Amino acid sequence: MPKICMVGTGYVGLVSGSCLADFGNEVICVDIDRDRIEKIQNGIMPIYEPGLKELVERNSEMGRLVFTTDLADSVKRSEVIFCAVGTPMDDDGAADLSAVYTVSKDVALAMDEYKVFVQKSTVPVGTSEEVERIISENLKGDISFDRVSNPEFLREGSAIEDFMRPNRVVIGIESERAKEIMRAIYSPLYLLETPIVFTSIRTAELIKYASNAFLAVKISFINEMADLCEKTGANVSEVAKGLGLDKRIGPKFLHAGVGYGGSCLPKDVSAILRTAGDVEADLRIVGAASDVNRSRIDRLLEKLDVELPDVSGRRIAILGLSFKPNTDDLRHAPSLKLIDIFLERGVRIAAYDPIAMDNAKKLYGDRIEFYDDAYSAMDGANALVLMTEWNEFRQLDLEKMKDMLAEPIVIDCRNIYKPSVMSGLGFRYHSFGRPGTPDI
Ligand SMILES: NC(=O)c1ccc[n+]([C@@H]2O[C@H](COP(=O)([O-])OP(=O)(O)OC[C@H]3O[C@@H](n4cnc5c(N)ncnc54)[C@H](O)[C@@H]3O)[C@@H](O)[C@H]2O)c1
Repeated sequence: MPKICMVGTGYVGLVSGSCLADFGNEVICVDIDRDRIEKIQNGIMPIYEPGLKELVERNSEMGRLVFTTDLADSVKRSEVIFCAVGTPMDDDGAADLSAVYTVSKDVALAMDEYKVFVQKSTVPVGTSEEVERIISENLKGDISFDRVSNPEFLREGSAIEDFMRPNRVVIGIESERAKEIMRAIYSPLYLLETPIVFTSIRTAELIKYASNAFLAVKISFINEMADLCEKTGANVSEVAKGLGLDKRIGPKFLHAGVGYGGSCLPKDVSAILRTAGDVEADLRIVGAASDVNRSRIDRLLEKLDVELPDVSGRRIAILGLSFKPNTDDLRHAPSLKLIDIFLERGVRIAAYDPIAMDNAKKLYGDRIEFYDDAYSAMDGANALVLMTEWNEFRQLDLEKMKDMLAEPIVIDCRNIYKPSVMSGLGFRYHSFGRPGTPDI
């Protein structure tokens, strides 16, 4: 089995490194963040991901998984270097590739024999060629290497299952030697008959962006349908069900609401639009999906405005801060947009999230009030806005909720409650795309 060095121990690197170790590979995970590495070594996971701690512990005990900040030594001891560092959105909406380029250079400086450089970070088409140039320029001597693009499709919240049982693995590769090495690394997935799609490197790079762009289009599509439902008296949940049962369409990513956020869709949509702009290709559908998504927060505010025209000085509870359930990730979460608008308008925000509060406290400090449970956050609030569909919010005692709120106003941005139940209890209830129709 080839030895692996995984550079970056974030949501992707830590999960991928641990899962590859679980496949039986020897993996060294590297990060520049010393605090993060020390935490992991002490059994404290730097991110919330169900099952991760147990996976890390099991493979560390087996001696297949180690953590370090020493990149040069890790590179020397490995044949395959995976790059899983962040590629956030820069100020112009493009992918910021500075960490990828830094890693490429540092890896090159440490290389003493043949290596495979595998790009796991999401990078625009053509990045691999720039990485090749950087590595070649910084090599000390005549050392050969191969490049591979192996984009990651895991979802936060179910990342381990997604990595262990993926729908497909995409491998952009242009060398037979590297192909054999990648086959060996992923050999357990061959046993599960996982489709392994070998393509050119540029194609693999684009497949990742095309996938996320398509998912964004699906979400914005159903959100526009929700707006149409509100004007026509149809119910978007039923529309989504009727649509999604068509196998050509599928039921996933058809949940109407306040739009997509997270560490991937917003930045990847923005980056593919930038790539398209650079080569004068017009991605009108993706552009429209992005515009629609940006405007979702206005739809939310319109609904709140109907009930509470002047929010200044009012106390509003926000339930759910992470961009989706089962993660502590706040990057580009719709809740952040809402909080910023509320703060600007002088709202007193009372927030609760089951997992993401520590991250939110780092961002907002005492500018918002944080509570240890949903009921304390809603106590005495003039309105409640539900931003993330954590399971525990589905189980809330609605009568208690009604009693605790100063005014029974609920804006349900994830359509988790039944309109008839809510109106029956006397709430002034708004959801998305379900105007007074029977519930499903
Ligand atoms: N988060 C997801 O759900 C997801 C899913 C699929 C793909 N991706 C892609 O995977 C990549 C990583 O995303 P993430 O969410 O794991 O990012 P992240 O920000 O959680 O983690 C990145 C890690 O890289 C480390 N790092 C930065 N520079 C480094 C360097 N020079 N040497 C060593 N370590 C360094 C950081 O300290 C951090 O721990 C991105 O390109 C992202 O688009 C993310």
